[in-house]
Amino acid sequence: MAKIIKDSKEAGVKDGDFVKEGARSVGVYFGCEDGLCGTCLVEVIEGMENLSEKNEKEADMGLEGNQRLMCQCRIKHGTVKVKLFETVTTIH
Ligand code: FES
Repeated sequence: MAKIIKDSKEAGVKDGDFVKEGARSVGVYFGCEDGLCGTCLVEVIEGMENLSEKNEKEADMGLEGNQRLMCQCRIKHGTVKVKLFETVTTIH
């Protein structure tokens, strides 16, 4: 059983399964669930090697480095730690 962690929450995911339901239960938000909207974008803090390779939809979105779409990834095994992708907003 693999594990996804965000902040202090964690969820089990069967080895090889899509990480989506586990990610949802630890507080990742979803929109289209089809790799189009970017709502489920996270930064992987630990365990990038435990996720499936970036797929075509993630590549099309131009994700960089440790950014992943949680609706597109499978977890191979082990633990993956993520945080929500934050954009910087300046209020004037
Ligand atoms: S939920 Fe839309 S890209 Fe993942």
